[in-house]
Amino acid sequence: MTTVLITGGSEGIGLELAKLYASDGAQLILAARDPVRLFDARNELQKLYHARVDTISSDLSVPGSAKKLYESLSGHEVDVLINNAGCGYTGYSWQIDAEAEEKMVQLNDASLMTLCKLFLADFTERRSGTIVNVASTGAFQSGPYIAGYYASKAFVLNYTKAIAEEAKEYGVHVCCLCPGPVDTHFYAKSGGRKPKGAMSAEKTAAIAWKGIQNNKKVIIPGFFNRLAMLVPQSIRTAYVRRSKLKNIRRRNKKG
Ligand SMILES: NC(=O)c1ccc[n+]([C@@H]2O[C@H](COP(=O)([O-])OP(=O)(O)OC[C@H]3O[C@@H](n4cnc5c(N)ncnc54)[C@H](OP(=O)(O)O)[C@@H]3O)[C@@H](O)[C@H]2O)c1
Repeated sequence: MTTVLITGGSEGIGLELAKLYASDGAQLILAARDPVRLFDARNELQKLYHARVDTISSDLSVPGSAKKLYESLSGHEVDVLINNAGCGYTGYSWQIDAEAEEKMVQLNDASLMTLCKLFLADFTERRSGTIVNVASTGAFQSGPYIAGYYASKAFVLNYTKAIAEEAKEYGVHVCCLCPGPVDTHFYAKSGGRKPKGAMSAEKTAAIAWKGIQNNKKVIIPGFFNRLAMLVPQSIRTAYVRRSKLKNIRRRNKKG
């Protein structure tokens, strides 16, 4: 039976991916911070798919937590690692709390990298395994007023593409999921505003699932998101600048 570890598997894109793996008969391990949401996610997956689900409460924004999470898995042989947990902040970069953004980098980049290292050592030895790292379409450009987040996702994209090349000769598939806007609680948490036309987490996960099964290296869900990647970077950056600034001004007006 396939065992899948999903960080940030308690809601949003991670939970929708968990549902797809559960419906395919996989056993799941979900990691996130909030034990109540983890409990609810496990109940939902057990009820809908009779899946075997283990949960681990872990704050991956804390240095050392990724190694701890890995060590707590002894007894489970993981086949698929999905590094999905992530967060971001919007605002003038010098006004965003420095400690919060340091934690973001630890979560989005450092913990992801550590989990990749630990599982790649196992997977390459076994000559099988899959790693999916979740970046964003923001990884392909700079993001004024969301600078740290976009930069953290550029790290994910470039790191993932590089380790994918290293791992392929060992039969290990590494891929990067780069969603555009997705309708989750992410925006409420990041202090941003959900763009109109955000894709559902369900659809995002379904496209990701198909791409993973087809051994894609980079998955950008949605035709228009892929099309946007053909627009010159300077124009995309100008668009982000304008829309984020509008949102910040609206937010500041509301107080
Ligand atoms: N939504 C979008 O528009 C969008 C677009 C592109 C890329 N993405 C990326 O997609 C991924 C999933 O985002 P989402 O939209 O599904 O967000 P979400 O609904 O906010 O879910 C985030 C998940 O990550 C977990 N998480 C957050 N901080 C954590 C921490 N410090 N340690 C461990 N787990 C943590 C959350 O659980 P707890 O809070 O309980 O820890 C939750 O399970 C993220 O990497 C995000 O950057 C999102």
